[in-house]
Amino acid sequence: MPERMRILTGVRPTGPLHLGHYAGALSTWLELQCEYDCYFLIADYQVSDHADDLPRVRSAVWDVALDWLAAGLDPDSASFVIESGVPEHAELTTWLAWLLPVGMLERNPTLRAEMEAIENPDDATTRGKSVPVAFYIYPVMQVANILLPRAHLVPVGEDQLPHVELARETARRFNHDFKPIFPEPEALVGRVPRLLGTDGNVKMSKSRGNTIDLKDGADVVAKKVRVMYAGPPRGANEPGEVEANPVFGYLDAFDNDAAEVSDLKERYARHGVSNVELKDRLTRVLNELLEPMRQRRAQYEGNMARVRDALEHGTGRARAIARETMGRVHEALDLDYLRKYR
Ligand code: TRP
Repeated sequence: MPERMRILTGVRPTGPLHLGHYAGALSTWLELQCEYDCYFLIADYQVSDHADDLPRVRSAVWDVALDWLAAGLDPDSASFVIESGVPEHAELTTWLAWLLPVGMLERNPTLRAEMEAIENPDDATTRGKSVPVAFYIYPVMQVANILLPRAHLVPVGEDQLPHVELARETARRFNHDFKPIFPEPEALVGRVPRLLGTDGNVKMSKSRGNTIDLKDGADVVAKKVRVMYAGPPRGANEPGEVEANPVFGYLDAFDNDAAEVSDLKERYARHGVSNVELKDRLTRVLNELLEPMRQRRAQYEGNMARVRDALEHGTGRARAIARETMGRVHEALDLDYLRKYR
């Protein structure tokens, strides 16, 4: 029997996960975990931009693990991996950095945008910081994340495509220059590319305070939806523009009754539907989605040892395959110096 195809994907531990993570990532991962050998990585080597707030990063590792369990990821079939628990990531990063010309990082559009955001945050209350070297090379480590378990598929958001391309290029080079060890990984882009923030901003993010978190209670969700941006102001029965109203974006993402949503859009565009009606529907839909997560979360929160076990087992599994891969890498790079004169 051919071995099961492997998947690797990950998230940076910066805080609790929100609906954007669910729509763009978790909902896909939930489907994939049944079919593939999945490695879900908590990338705690790749948060050098949060070095001034280590406690936040450390507690975010638990936030992420709890959110994954609450969302229904199954730690018995998928591996939850703490990146720094597999130090082979650091070693492989160093070897792979041999193969990548700096120009490939200089031209990486996602990296460039992120560096720019660190140096010149658009949030006026925070001062810009300088970019750590570790941040500059994080795409190389992300390549190591993907190649270490010799992953075939990488489910990601669109912004991560340049990194997956880098992984493909690196795999080709390594295989060609040394030994054919790595499958050329393929990207898999999720169903909802991007969810707007509750304030209508193009990005839902913790730093903008425009998220709905997976762990938000029913009242919090209702309140956040009530004050959510719903397009430019208009009179009670004036027709609205569907595209200008992000509430519809959320309904598209989370409302299972596509027929009713499209009927609602039509009425909205023809003679106007009150935003209150729209928002009531969204609140109901979101709370139906989140309620089972709240229940699962409560169970795990009452038994954090199970969360720890999930992280420990998953990291152990990742380490086993990492060691196997590094054995091959050592052989390919002729690293076993001390055997020579035995
Ligand atoms: N850089 C990714 C993000 O910001 C997170 C990540 C780290 C990742 N390692 C990865 C994604 C490996 C896919 C594969 O979302």
